Amino acid sequence: MTIDPTTQTLAQLGALTPEAVARRFAEVRQRFDADIEERGSDATGRAALVADWVGRRSGALTSIGDHWLKPAPLELKRVVGQEFQNLKAYVEAVLEERGKEIEAARERATAAAQGIDLSLPGVHRAIGTRHLIRQTFDELIGIFFSIGFSVVEGPEIETPYYNFEALNIPEHHPARDNMDTFYIEGAQGSHLLRTHTSPMQIRTMEKQQPPVRIVVPGKAYRRDNPDATHGYMFHQLEGLAVDTDITFCDFKGTVEYFVREFLGPQAKTRLRPSYFPFTEPSAEVDATCHVCGGEGCRICKFSGWIELFGAGMVDPAVYGFVDYDPEKLSGFAFGMGVDRLAMMKYGIIELPLLFQNDVRFLRQFP
Ligand code: DAH
Repeated sequence: MTIDPTTQTLAQLGALTPEAVARRFAEVRQRFDADIEERGSDATGRAALVADWVGRRSGALTSIGDHWLKPAPLELKRVVGQEFQNLKAYVEAVLEERGKEIEAARERATAAAQGIDLSLPGVHRAIGTRHLIRQTFDELIGIFFSIGFSVVEGPEIETPYYNFEALNIPEHHPARDNMDTFYIEGAQGSHLLRTHTSPMQIRTMEKQQPPVRIVVPGKAYRRDNPDATHGYMFHQLEGLAVDTDITFCDFKGTVEYFVREFLGPQAKTRLRPSYFPFTEPSAEVDATCHVCGGEGCRICKFSGWIELFGAGMVDPAVYGFVDYDPEKLSGFAFGMGVDRLAMMKYGIIELPLLFQNDVRFLRQFP
């Protein structure tokens, strides 16, 4: 079907009232409907329709715009404009819709030709979630973030200086014995896999003047014998706060705040004297058992308390390694085993479960 290019004005066509204008436009719309019926069933036909109806230069709509809309007398302009917009929107929408139908039909035909049944349900691909260790890190970091700590990270391959010496653990110090170390001998001398995240205390203080308030998430490595609670690698969150007037009270308050946030408002805290070369005094932080609430049960070995992490006031000797003035500065530090905390909080008794990536396990911690 060829389209009347409508080269006469409405006046020449005798359409001088709104009703007559509407009738003219209705006729065009009918012609378009008929044209779609006739030619619009395949991609080639539709392409021709697009050119004939909405083509910029010689499409019917352009022609109607030029001959009907532009020269329309003032009193009919609004009606003609409205009719024109309606027609244009209708023609474009129908062509677009028809295009989609043709494309869908083509896909169905291709699929059928290849023997694919599009009505079968698709393959469900599960979206991953954060690993329990990642979740625990985020939770721990969030607690310290809320009281002004920021996050820094550092290298897993360290030098003995940062891992030991500068943390007040000289060679032959017995503390090196509990941290059986993986050494890496290279051209640049001896390196090692860090046995804890504490080296980042030194690296941070070397670079930054007080006040310092940081937590350090990361991996650490030790030559332990793998068993239900030990592996070669584990995760730690180190913490350090140094300023001009940090007291033991600040330390205790921070630790208690952390325990309540992590285990709930009912959890109580206990500091037990301990020893670390880089803190003096040192403490083990215990919390009331989250299973029995302090009554005593199998999980806490009937003591009512669970050991959470090591901590203490920074030993002044450490400041000597980073050019901090121990007369003016004080601070506290802590180091927590993240795997341990996750296992405790979620009742996991086998450490390897955390690293085998068995989805039946992971799914329990969405
Ligand atoms: N670095 C210690 C370890 O891996 C943990 C630790 C204890 C870190 C006390 C500290 C601290 O910063 O103050 O066993």
